[in-house]
Amino acid sequence: MIGLISDTHDNLRAVRELADRMNDEGVEVVLHAGDYVAPFTLPELAKIDCEEFIGVFGNNDGERDFLREKAEEVGFNLVGEVFTGEVLGLKVAMVHGTEEAIVEALARSGQYDVVVYGHTHEPEERRVGDTLVVNPGEACGYVTGRRTAALLDPDERTVKLIEF
Ligand code: NI
Repeated sequence: MIGLISDTHDNLRAVRELADRMNDEGVEVVLHAGDYVAPFTLPELAKIDCEEFIGVFGNNDGERDFLREKAEEVGFNLVGEVFTGEVLGLKVAMVHGTEEAIVEALARSGQYDVVVYGHTHEPEERRVGDTLVVNPGEACGYVTGRRTAALLDPDERTVKLIEF
């Protein structure tokens, strides 16, 4: 199972509860679409007991050097603005989604099985051709009042939204 997270925005209580939930679900890989904000949230996120943790930066991630340093310390692969690669057999692209046109271009390129983004704080799941486009919503719950994340089944290619 792949855990999809975005927009944790320093909400430590939410991050801790989410880590417990992801561990209960037996998540193997976590993809985080950005907006951690402060570096202190990364060690809490790293409590998710997964094989690989991959993240991109969001528009509110100002302290990039500190975030990179902390990520390295806790074994979290913070790749930059864009992640593209294979995850449990799926071709994945991930951006924070600050520019909607970039999300659309990735989705329409037909090169990816899954495009993951965040930023809007609204969960979304849709298909563009054969590409699954997913926004797990906001883990922090600050804007919508709902703390959400998502589980992506790499074999079925289905997404389940979770509230925690
Ligand atoms: Ni954002």
